[in-house]
Amino acid sequence: MSKSDPHHAVAIHPATVPQRTLYTGATMPAVGLGTFGSDHVTAAQVAEAVLGAAAVGYRHFDCASVYGNEPEVGASLQAILRNGIKRQELWITSKLWNDKHAEGDVIASCRKSLDDLRLDYLDLYLVHWPFPNFHPPHCDVTSRSPDARPYIHENYMKTWRKMEELVDMGLVRHIGTSNMTIPKLKLVLRDARIKPAVNEMELHPHFQQPQLFKFVVDNGLQPIGYCPIGSPGRPERDRTPEDTAPTDDPVILKIAEDHQITPVAVCIKWAVQRGQTPIPFSIHHYRENLECVTTDPLTDAEMRAIAAIDRNCRLIKGQVFLWKDGQTWEALWDMNGEITPP
Ligand SMILES: NC(=O)c1ccc[n+]([C@@H]2O[C@H](COP(=O)([O-])OP(=O)(O)OC[C@H]3O[C@@H](n4cnc5c(N)ncnc54)[C@H](OP(=O)(O)O)[C@@H]3O)[C@@H](O)[C@H]2O)c1
Repeated sequence: MSKSDPHHAVAIHPATVPQRTLYTGATMPAVGLGTFGSDHVTAAQVAEAVLGAAAVGYRHFDCASVYGNEPEVGASLQAILRNGIKRQELWITSKLWNDKHAEGDVIASCRKSLDDLRLDYLDLYLVHWPFPNFHPPHCDVTSRSPDARPYIHENYMKTWRKMEELVDMGLVRHIGTSNMTIPKLKLVLRDARIKPAVNEMELHPHFQQPQLFKFVVDNGLQPIGYCPIGSPGRPERDRTPEDTAPTDDPVILKIAEDHQITPVAVCIKWAVQRGQTPIPFSIHHYRENLECVTTDPLTDAEMRAIAAIDRNCRLIKGQVFLWKDGQTWEALWDMNGEITPP
């Protein structure tokens, strides 16, 4: 039998995977498979992982046009559907890339992702970053677009109106934000006709973003957590000497030893029990990353111990999106609670 046969090797029954309920009442599996190959995993390898992951019980896939592999992932999704998994059992996310924020580009860009993914609709479509700043793939962190712009709320809302139109058109079930801050989200929540259903953000034990996490949850959005295990395979351009690895933390190592599981499993269990939806990328370990959330939960004391190891260590700093000379990456993240002025 092939790996994609849903009746074969369903290692983890999808019904045993925790679910999140969005404000629309829709449910989303609380663990998804990331699909960003980080410059060194090929589109074919990611597509193979998508196929294998569906066979072991994944139903949630986090895609994006900028990952450069939606056509290959789409071929896998088509095979998964042909093999008997129903479309409504899947949760498929894609994202609008930064060079497609213009009003005339949003719907066309979504249609392109739908064509590539071979789907009639997306469960979730995100504005990938709040900045319309394009940079070439694989560029260095010092690369800057001469046309780079700061966050301009009026412009973001023009993009958002088109995102809302996608929902009206039935092409997308939910829309959401990514890489946002509290002051930016406050404005979007004030002005949106269709409010974001999720905010996708970096979340792992060394970067817990407690204030943003609380704001997101308090406003009825689901937090989706990227880099849930600290993105050990991230590109060189996203590494700095100050970065730390949550999977090396003594608290995580001790809990892993006590449960006889890996430090990665501790990070994923913590994420799900805290209330976010982690989307670990993996081509080799995806089965264990899903299985770990179905058994042997962390204790309250362990959850508290992990809450105490936050280091405010942001790994994906976004330097390439800066719009002015002499800025540091902190300008992207509204560190003093207000949107950084232009
Ligand atoms: N919205 C955004 O702006 C944004 C930004 C970044 C990422 N994302 C999304 O989030 C996803 C996850 O983030 P990420 O890929 O940067 O980081 P990640 O999921 O924290 O880490 C992925 C890396 O961890 C390894 N790994 C996974 N499970 C493992 C295990 N059980 N044991 C040992 N190693 C393991 C993988 O290697 P193997 O393949 O060898 O298992 C891979 O190198 C992305 O793929 C993407 O879909 C979104």
